[in-house]
Amino acid sequence: MANVNLKVKVFNQIFLNPVIPAAGPNVGSGLMVQRAAQGGAGGLLTKTISSVAAPVPRPNMVRFGKDNLLNTELWSELSPETWLNQEYDVSLKAACDFKLPIIGSIGYTAQDLASLGPHLEHKGINIIEFSVHYLDEKLIVETAQALRNAVKIPIVAKLSLHSGDLGEIAKLLDPYVDGFTCINSFGPTLVIDIERGLSPLGSQNGYGWLSGPAIKPMAVRSVFEVARVTDKPVIGVGGVTGGEDVIEFFMAGASLVEVCTAAILKGPDVYGKIAAETAHWLETHGYNDINEIKGLYLNKFRGGQPVVTSKEQAAWVNTDKCKACSLCAKVCQFDALNAPLKQIAAVDSDKCSACGLCVSVCPFDALELKPIIL
Ligand SMILES: Cc1cc2nc3c(=O)[nH]c(=O)nc-3n(C[C@H](O)[C@H](O)[C@H](O)COP(=O)(O)O)c2cc1C
Repeated sequence: MANVNLKVKVFNQIFLNPVIPAAGPNVGSGLMVQRAAQGGAGGLLTKTISSVAAPVPRPNMVRFGKDNLLNTELWSELSPETWLNQEYDVSLKAACDFKLPIIGSIGYTAQDLASLGPHLEHKGINIIEFSVHYLDEKLIVETAQALRNAVKIPIVAKLSLHSGDLGEIAKLLDPYVDGFTCINSFGPTLVIDIERGLSPLGSQNGYGWLSGPAIKPMAVRSVFEVARVTDKPVIGVGGVTGGEDVIEFFMAGASLVEVCTAAILKGPDVYGKIAAETAHWLETHGYNDINEIKGLYLNKFRGGQPVVTSKEQAAWVNTDKCKACSLCAKVCQFDALNAPLKQIAAVDSDKCSACGLCVSVCPFDALELKPIIL
């Protein structure tokens, strides 16, 4: 690994790197938690349990695109007794062997949390993450209060976008919790297998919850929104597949990131791989420590930015970098780019609307927006 510090101290625990599992089948048993530790996770987390085993529909997972999933897994289909008598012991041994902090995920009602929380605390779980996925706004606060009164260890609220304005919800929860996780999977959503005329999922209506890179911009926005209303740690989750995603979440204000879908589709070595890529990015960009980039975007833009509507810029082509692929001309909706195949692109700045699309599409980083000199 590159010569960069990836250790982060969060909730008074040292995480060896900022990449940890998110709740899902990737940590659905003690054995899977052990695999996450072997795969290089910087800390551990266990699948959400509730006061009863989940009645999980089948089928309950389907791939969408290359790297996303829809799922209808609910929470652990192992009973709380199985976790308390068996799976937590295996998970805690892995945490001890690999010197990793361990977060236990629980849900959902105030009664569930008040009865499960103390059991996890007595077992030696370091931090509790509680999911509010199936609750409305009033119940969310009630459950946070119930868990706060039941345990002394740090508690973290895992928020879901369908709950409402996450900044507002975070403000309501702030007096009771030690941190936040953003976000759970997004939905509900529906895909139809058109050859069979069926949903690939066995839930009522065939709905599932979307996860993977498709939800990453929503997750990054949520981290930013929550981090600007609280000084408490925010854990980012949603679509992390590589080191650059970790950097992005940290810039938005995250203190750790969680990974679920990429670990399911690529295996548990992905945690260590993402951590190594994070270190490599930091090193090649002149940073010595992951903590140096935390909040870079948040601190600059927490109050928003001035919105420019007048056309003061136009696309500009760096002719040394342009490889004459013509992609920019294909996507330009204003006929401002002249780029026949094998000819260096040229901009008509009178026609250019400064929309920025060509800049993001160019594979060679050959386009940028520059002020128009009149
Ligand atoms: C199959 C599957 C099962 C999941 N189960 C849970 C769960 O039990 N509890 C929970 O809080 N989140 C659960 N999630 C949501 C993930 O923890 C995570 O918040 C979400 O998938 C976004 O991260 P990702 O894009 O890295 O998967 C599940 C996600 C998937 C794909």
